[in-house]
Amino acid sequence: MVAAGGIGLAPLRPVIYQIINQRAKYGRVVLLYGARTPSDLLYSGEFSTWEDNQIEVMTTVDRADESWLGQVGVVPMLFYRLSLDTDKTVVFSCGPEIMMRFVVFEALARRIAPQQIYLSLERNMKCGQGFCGHCQYGPFFICKDGPVYSFDRLEPFFNLEDF
Ligand code: FES
Repeated sequence: MVAAGGIGLAPLRPVIYQIINQRAKYGRVVLLYGARTPSDLLYSGEFSTWEDNQIEVMTTVDRADESWLGQVGVVPMLFYRLSLDTDKTVVFSCGPEIMMRFVVFEALARRIAPQQIYLSLERNMKCGQGFCGHCQYGPFFICKDGPVYSFDRLEPFFNLEDF
C-alpha cells in the first residue's frame, strides 16, 4: 500500500513504476492519495496507466470543486475503509506528518509489522551534511541517514517528539 498526501506522491511515484516494471512480482497494490483540491492532485494524467497495471488508485481531496465526483476527506479515511491482507502488506507513506501519523496508527492497529511500514521524512535542512542538527529526529540526521526509514527504527522516538 502506498499512502501519499500532496507533493508526497512525488517521491513515491518511482515505487509505483518499480512495481509496474516488475508487476508479476507483486500482489495487490493500492495507492491512497489525497490533496487539498482536485487541481492539486499530482500525476492525475498517469492514474489510468497505473490502473491499467492493476494499481488500485483511490483519491480524495480536502475541498471539492464543481468538477469533482470523488471522495472528500483525508487519506487516513481511505485507509480506514480499506480491507487488506495485513500479513502481506507493506506500507510506504509520504506526506504531511499528521497524515503519516494516522496512517502509522492505523497500520499498527491492524498489526502490520513496524518493519513493514516505511516513512519518508522531511525536516528543515540547513547544512545537508550531518553537521548542524537542523534535521535531527532522535538519533538520526535525516539529511544524511534518511529520508526513508522503516517504522521499527523510528518507533522509540515516535511519541517523544512532535512528529
Ligand atoms: S541539515 Fe544539518 S544536520 Fe541535517
